[in-house]
Amino acid sequence: MKIALIGYGKMGKFIEQLAKERGHEVILIIDTHNQSDLQSARFKEADVAIEFSTPHSVLSNVEAAFAAHVPIVVGTTGWYDEIPTVKTKCESGNNTLLYASNFSIGVNVFFHVNKVLAQLMNRYPQYEVQVEEIHHTQKLDAPSGTAITIAEGIIDGLDRKNKWVNEVVGQHDGRVNQAAELLIESHRIDQVPGTHTVVYSSEVDEIEFKHTAHSRAGFALGAIIAAEWLEGKRGFYSISDMFDFK
Ligand SMILES: NC(=O)c1ccc[n+]([C@@H]2O[C@H](COP(=O)([O-])OP(=O)(O)OC[C@H]3O[C@@H](n4cnc5c(N)ncnc54)[C@H](O)[C@@H]3O)[C@@H](O)[C@H]2O)c1
Repeated sequence: MKIALIGYGKMGKFIEQLAKERGHEVILIIDTHNQSDLQSARFKEADVAIEFSTPHSVLSNVEAAFAAHVPIVVGTTGWYDEIPTVKTKCESGNNTLLYASNFSIGVNVFFHVNKVLAQLMNRYPQYEVQVEEIHHTQKLDAPSGTAITIAEGIIDGLDRKNKWVNEVVGQHDGRVNQAAELLIESHRIDQVPGTHTVVYSSEVDEIEFKHTAHSRAGFALGAIIAAEWLEGKRGFYSISDMFDFK
């Protein structure tokens, strides 16, 4: 495949390397200094664009891919309130987009088991539940997109929780959470690629369910596999469409 990379930071660089190892061609790399290349003929030649930039730039990059009719895989997080609008634009323009809050295969297995676990724990109201996420200090959004997906899976399965709230450790505003609120606790620690933990605790015991990313390689590989899966498809997809866990 001919790949255009949008965003050439930590993830973009990993993806470039792995894409070449898998036999793909990176035909264009776009970052802040060459934004106008999004309107170039070269960009239109790409079979797919892979976007890992910033929450502030992702929407304009998606619009540019739609305008050029280049299918786009989006890894950038922190824009999910816009999903309904982006979905409508994607479908009305006969375009193609796949997004994931986390492209690692292990995390997508985790998402599935997390949902099953929440349905099971619905029977045991003596357990309080909490989500914890740890990321590197340069991360711009909190909570992480992955933690939000985990929280939504829990809220779907547990009748006793109806919304999530976020607390960044060290920035607590003194607010007391309601029983129906699911706390996502965010920790920012240098160099951590991403750790997510779901903790169910009762007076007598605790169940801890945890995913630890050892590096960014798992995200990069998942994004390339998603781009390969997207070939020949039209429409708006999330990574869960790629897996069949039933
Ligand atoms: N979905 C996943 O699996 C996953 C995994 C890791 C990171 N992420 C997310 O991906 C995003 C990027 O992560 P990163 O670690 O590579 O960040 P990074 O800060 O290392 O890189 C971001 C890059 O985007 C560039 N950029 C800024 N504005 C741009 C624009 N308008 N057009 C093109 N490029 C632009 C920056 O110059 C920088 O090079 C973040 O939102 C992060 O949360 C998602």
